[in-house]
Amino acid sequence: MDTSITLAKTLETQKEVAVLLPKKEPSLCPGPDGKIIPVCEPRLSGREGEYLAECLKTNWISSGGPFVPAFEEAFSVQCGCRYGIACTSGTTALHLAMATLGLGRGDEVILPTFTMIATANAVAYTGAKPVLVDSEPKTWNIDIEQIEMKITSRTKAIVPIHTYGHPADMDPLVSLSQRKNLVVIEDAAHAHGAEYKGKRAGGFGQAACFSFYANKIITTGEGGMITTNDEAFAEKARMLRDHAFSKERHFWHKVAGFNYRMTNLQAAIGLAQTEQFDSLVEARIKNAEIYEALLKETPGLTLPPRTPGIKNVFWMYAILVEKEFGISRDALRQRLASKGIETRTFFIPIHLQPIYRRKYRREFPVSEELCEKGMYLPSAPTLTKKDIERIALEIRRARTRKG
Ligand SMILES: Cc1ncc(COP(=O)(O)O)c(C=O)c1O
Repeated sequence: MDTSITLAKTLETQKEVAVLLPKKEPSLCPGPDGKIIPVCEPRLSGREGEYLAECLKTNWISSGGPFVPAFEEAFSVQCGCRYGIACTSGTTALHLAMATLGLGRGDEVILPTFTMIATANAVAYTGAKPVLVDSEPKTWNIDIEQIEMKITSRTKAIVPIHTYGHPADMDPLVSLSQRKNLVVIEDAAHAHGAEYKGKRAGGFGQAACFSFYANKIITTGEGGMITTNDEAFAEKARMLRDHAFSKERHFWHKVAGFNYRMTNLQAAIGLAQTEQFDSLVEARIKNAEIYEALLKETPGLTLPPRTPGIKNVFWMYAILVEKEFGISRDALRQRLASKGIETRTFFIPIHLQPIYRRKYRREFPVSEELCEKGMYLPSAPTLTKKDIERIALEIRRARTRKG
């Protein structure tokens, strides 16, 4: 083998990949009013404190306390589902769902390359292989038309994600999965309260997995939940969540389980949050309406998708900075950071991640474009109209000042 050719090719690939990646994180300075507008923060304005105090008063801080089943019940009802299985995170919910399906070495699972690393990792933890599909350019969700060509005799499941709160196109996805006898697991980490043709995210497949990390629409600090309508699936997931203790004898294990149990403390916060479900979802939608009104005439910005019949909950207000804007996405982030406004870049697609990258083949152009141009603006439920007006003003100023 000519190693100089191999090395040259590797360097060329590294260069190709490097141009797609975000530049160094900008440093955040307080704005003119001395304030920093964070990209997100939770709103804990309901009975969170009261319920937490109850955990302490009753001495129930482990997963054995009563807030866990109460939260599972309340949250799954919001998703139109019969069962909820609370977990320690969205990632463990995904892994638990994959393990409950019985996935393992030799199996393949189809998912979008444009997602957070946890979706792919959850598949890989079981020994199964993540098989990646590009996004479609309108909603940034998995391109259903490209799924079929990735299906093989080893494919067991499809995992769509409802990107940034906009549901994936579930009708064709579910009918394809039925035709091909595949299981659908929704990654609904961003989609609390989102609706597709009048139906809530979380009830479309065999199961769905939510995240309750502090930046999510409903939060428990860290946490997650599987929702499902399948009783046997729920029962198996509960068993695996709890070290797979057997029913006939304590400390007796016939299969390898996990400890993915949510604590009573987390569930207490989760229940209080779920009591504010509608207002927390509406706060994100209201933010989006204000941003849209202020930014829609700004040339060079692509605003987040709206699709008839679909309720986008705008988990994050995500935009694309096009060439026409005049300065790059990274330069805009820099400018906003210097004015006390925190932002985030989009996901770096799975196929570009060092742990999953095999041979770079320019196979996923839409996801790469999203990675290059995408960023999200502050999206907390605590944002005021004044905050959003200031952010929009700084964006318009950055454009006219050209960098
Ligand atoms: C699409 C997606 N799936 C899964 C997760 C993992 O959730 P968690 O951080 O709760 O483990 C995230 C986290 O943001 C995510 O964005």
